[in-house]
Amino acid sequence: MKITLSLSPAPQLETECLVAVVLDREDNARGDKDKTQPYASTADTAVQQAANDVISSGDITGKNFETSWLHKPAGLKAKRLLLVGGGKAKKFSSTDLRKLAGAAVRALKSRNLRNLAFVAPDGISTEEAVRAIVEGALVGDFDPDTYKSDRKDQKIDSLTVVATGDQNALQRALDDARVVGESQNFTRELVNEPSNRMTPTILANRARQMCQETGLKCEVYGADKIKELKMGAFWGVAQGSDEPPALIVMRYEPVGAPEKPVLGLVGKGITFDTGGISIKPADGMEKMKYDMAGGATMIGAMRAIALLKPKVKVIGIVCATENMPSGKAQKPGDIQTAMSGKTIEIINTDAEGRLVLADGLCYARQLGCTHLIDAATLTGAVVVALGYANVGVFSNDTSFYEQFSQILSKSGENMWRLPVTDEYLEMTRSSIADLMNTGGRWGGASTAAAFLKEFAEDTPWIHLDIAGTAWMEDNKPWIAKGPSGIAVRSLVEFAREFASHKP
Ligand code: BES
Ligand code: MN
Ligand code: ZN
Repeated sequence: MKITLSLSPAPQLETECLVAVVLDREDNARGDKDKTQPYASTADTAVQQAANDVISSGDITGKNFETSWLHKPAGLKAKRLLLVGGGKAKKFSSTDLRKLAGAAVRALKSRNLRNLAFVAPDGISTEEAVRAIVEGALVGDFDPDTYKSDRKDQKIDSLTVVATGDQNALQRALDDARVVGESQNFTRELVNEPSNRMTPTILANRARQMCQETGLKCEVYGADKIKELKMGAFWGVAQGSDEPPALIVMRYEPVGAPEKPVLGLVGKGITFDTGGISIKPADGMEKMKYDMAGGATMIGAMRAIALLKPKVKVIGIVCATENMPSGKAQKPGDIQTAMSGKTIEIINTDAEGRLVLADGLCYARQLGCTHLIDAATLTGAVVVALGYANVGVFSNDTSFYEQFSQILSKSGENMWRLPVTDEYLEMTRSSIADLMNTGGRWGGASTAAAFLKEFAEDTPWIHLDIAGTAWMEDNKPWIAKGPSGIAVRSLVEFAREFASHKP
């Protein structure tokens, strides 16, 4: 997608489709709360006038994602005017705008239109608006249709963002947003691949290629190194598969960055989770190809970080393997010794994510990471707790968590903190080893987090359980069904914040 900035007045733009946001202003003066007062959110009077015709017809009321098309709009050079409803003006934010841009792109794509110009609405700072429009449009442009032989290559050709302000600042916002949006889509591409086309080796190759393109250092280790590092928890999972595991290490070490802090991003990269000997039911098992989403998230985030160049060291680690049942597979009752020296009684081989992450977190600390964030499709229990609406966030350090949570309104990703107090750790104590890899029936997202916390030890750490959010179960107006790329934007935004306000 070609993305350009235009500072010229919207009516002058010759485009297939000009897009403007319609908001609903409550008319409090009349005390009539139900009466909608829709208006096109732009300072441009020609666009407003063109929109007024549609608005007065009642075809659009400003409700969220409502769309209305106007052909040959009077006073505009554009061939069409697409109005998209953004809800109540008072509540309208960049998060809404991002989704509207995605919705506009998807509306165009379904009509075989490939070019649009999006007018930045009022009420949001223009830089923020430009960023939201670009990110949202890129997210909306992604369709997971790679393997359809009748796929129409209906990607958007060009997006023009129409805004007024300091050209340099706006162009910078646009360029940054492109990096973020494209990195999120890169993650989605990786997650979308089925397990026969996304083995640990292939995932490592994709990471290596990305690192080469963006100037990151990349090391990929196999079974020998995993055993040499005494990663008994990671190997316990990997030993059951014929596919070789991969320990992927991506390093971003910008010149001029201080020695400390070092941010460690650790991802769960299970390219297929059968459950192992504690095998999962057949129904829905196909979805377990997305069990490497946490790893793909870190690869996408590292891509964006490499290109945006915040002044802070970041190390990305992905523990990639399949979780398979076989004659070599670990069995319930087995005891594994993790890299940290802690012993783990395997109760359920389907609780494999915490095993690979235990060694991933320990290795990150050994490599010098002073702060850790992991992302993983870790538990079904987090889906029970939060549904598809929020990422579950766990942390052992409230000030680190608060620094992270501050950027969520900027990234527009929904995340909710859940507890990881000592009670949950008690539930994972084993009578014959230090820990069990499950914590019983209840509080499964928190017991899994408590297990990980044992391996973060005293390093400030945040755990993102993305099991419910890494895959969209349905098409939404702004995003296709399939991999969501959740958490990439937040991690990138956080790395930038972390670089400017070090702890
Ligand atoms: N990969 C799954 C978690 C998952 C569930 C991801 C649903 C996406 C959607 C994880 O490895 C798993 O199997 N967890 C078990 C843990 C249990 C055995 C303690 C679970 O949640 O059932
Ligand atoms: Mn599992
Ligand atoms: Zn899993």
